[in-house]
Amino acid sequence: MRIDIITVVPDLLKSPFEASIMQRSIAKGLVEVHFHNLRDYTTNAYKQVDDYQFGGGAGMVMMIEPIDKCISELKAERDYDEIIYLTPDGETLNQGIANQISLQKNIILLCGHYKGVDQRVRDQFITREISIGDYVLSGGELGALILCDTVIRLIPGVLGNETSALTDSFQDDMLAPPVYTRPAEYKGWKVPEILTSGNTPKIETWREEQAYKHTLKRRPDLLKD
Ligand code: ADE
Repeated sequence: MRIDIITVVPDLLKSPFEASIMQRSIAKGLVEVHFHNLRDYTTNAYKQVDDYQFGGGAGMVMMIEPIDKCISELKAERDYDEIIYLTPDGETLNQGIANQISLQKNIILLCGHYKGVDQRVRDQFITREISIGDYVLSGGELGALILCDTVIRLIPGVLGNETSALTDSFQDDMLAPPVYTRPAEYKGWKVPEILTSGNTPKIETWREEQAYKHTLKRRPDLLKD
């Protein structure tokens, strides 16, 4: 998968791709990430990418021209499956959306700032709008990083053990069951006996029951279907 991220603060984005699973996905050649500084696409002498909004009101708006130039240059080089704008009024990110995006080949992520982008950008270029939750960030960059993290770990071959992404919370509209590791007893606190019994079918049933109970308690809304 190739991910092109358009931003006014590329420095905010780089380090998460230099560690852990996202770094490994790039090292394995499964993911390519390219950053595009919007200020490199402005004809303005001050590298300005925002302006006052028509009609008055507080807050600056990101101008269409540099965004158009950047997106058009990228689109001239390859086809994109999705051009995603990170915005608090987009559809709320969930595991289903992450699964869909993980199947795509080339995507562009546009990070907004200030009051957002000129509506014509959204009307003309954007194919999908995603929010990471009902709160407002200073810009779309952290949202783009969260989207990248959740999508990249689903790409086949990125995680060492394929099944571990499949057993994540939310993957079947269910939260994950509790997990334990050695020692089997610590300060008198014991691991549930079933987990050390070696009886795989019983362990599976126990995990399913635990996942169901945990989901019922914490997120009954996930069970409504
Ligand atoms: N930009 C500002 N707030 C955001 C949010 N909640 N999700 C995605 N992008 C944003």
